[in-house]
Amino acid sequence: MTTPRIAVIVASTRTDRFGGKPADWLWSKLPERRDMTFELIDLRDHPLPFFDEAATNAFVETKDPAARAWQDLIRRFDGYIFVTPEYNHSIPGALKNALDQAYVEWKHKPIAALAYGSMGGARALEHLRQISVELQMVAVRNAVHIGGPDFYRVSPIGDDDPISAIEEHIAPSLEAMLDDVAWWARATMAARSQERKEAA
Ligand SMILES: Cc1cc2nc3c(=O)[nH]c(=O)nc-3n(C[C@H](O)[C@H](O)[C@H](O)COP(=O)(O)O)c2cc1C
Repeated sequence: MTTPRIAVIVASTRTDRFGGKPADWLWSKLPERRDMTFELIDLRDHPLPFFDEAATNAFVETKDPAARAWQDLIRRFDGYIFVTPEYNHSIPGALKNALDQAYVEWKHKPIAALAYGSMGGARALEHLRQISVELQMVAVRNAVHIGGPDFYRVSPIGDDDPISAIEEHIAPSLEAMLDDVAWWARATMAARSQERKEAA
């Protein structure tokens, strides 16, 4: 079986976002994992129109060229790690739209997150998990949360320290989350491969 390919998707598109900082930290840790390969995807680089199709591509072929290009990109991966803030107790609208703009490409693959905010982005991640059920994804148990005093220590609205200042608090959950992603990526790759064989 090939090595699972995992996309790390940066969800905040704000000009002055904090999200690039935890994304860079996460990215710096990933070469330690030899059991998966990773690609960084920034939603800023993939501007999408608001969803304007007849239905998701589970039912109707998508017309918009940007949405089709997004689907082509997403299809290449065996799992996804979102770096997401919490906006009004949920995920950013740009991320919800990006999720809506594909369907079959997300299906039967694991989804994980590094979430941040005063409450560690916990409510945003729970919303993301609910959405992922409808997309027929596997939401993994472990996640990285940057919240409370840690969030204010590294956020520009607080001390703006480097993420390394809180690394000992979040490194164990990163390892657990990556273990979950690797396990479910392998399991769902095997299941999808079997499904393709049976359909052939
Ligand atoms: C529109 C908006 C809504 C927010 N709502 C919440 C919230 O519900 N809970 C929370 O903990 N933080 C909330 N915040 C604070 C963000 O989590 C914090 O500003 C974070 O740095 C935003 O991520 P970003 O800088 O990568 O865009 C909100 C921020 C914005 C801009």
